[in-house]
Amino acid sequence: MSSTATAKRREVSLPEVIEKHQGRPGALLSILEEVQELEKFRYLPETTLREIAERMKVPLAQVYSVATFYSFFNLKPQGLHSVVVCRGTACHTRGSLELLEASLKRLGIEGFREDEENSVTTVDNFCSVRTVACFGQCALAPVVQIDGVISSRMTVGKLTAAIDKLRKGGQK
Ligand code: FES
Repeated sequence: MSSTATAKRREVSLPEVIEKHQGRPGALLSILEEVQELEKFRYLPETTLREIAERMKVPLAQVYSVATFYSFFNLKPQGLHSVVVCRGTACHTRGSLELLEASLKRLGIEGFREDEENSVTTVDNFCSVRTVACFGQCALAPVVQIDGVISSRMTVGKLTAAIDKLRKGGQK
């Protein structure tokens, strides 16, 4: 988390975020985006969604429908770091399952069911592991994104080394 984001978290309150956007087209979407960005674990707690609905005087169901429609909104706390493994066909044929399993093992995550969910977070909120259908870079498969940075032709060795580096405070 950058110091700028940390400073923003301290300085901006929910009422201020709402006031900034309210009345503009797409206000609810913009507010949810900004509020999630300000939240330490990049998610939208239920209490926050309720407060947004109350302050904006819109039905809670409307707030939830926006928060659940867009995949970039999270309703559960996310890790401070993120590893996103592409599980599309091109990446799968080039070993992305091994990459996914290696990242889960390196992070000590057990019981993740890829067929039931597309993300999981370590119990200490250190890192979230997520799968995506395709990054649109199939020629460079297998592709993994670490803290927003795409890496192509990933290997288990490079991925576990990158995770170890995150543990030691590198990148991000
Ligand atoms: S399948 Fe992985 S980038 Fe397209």
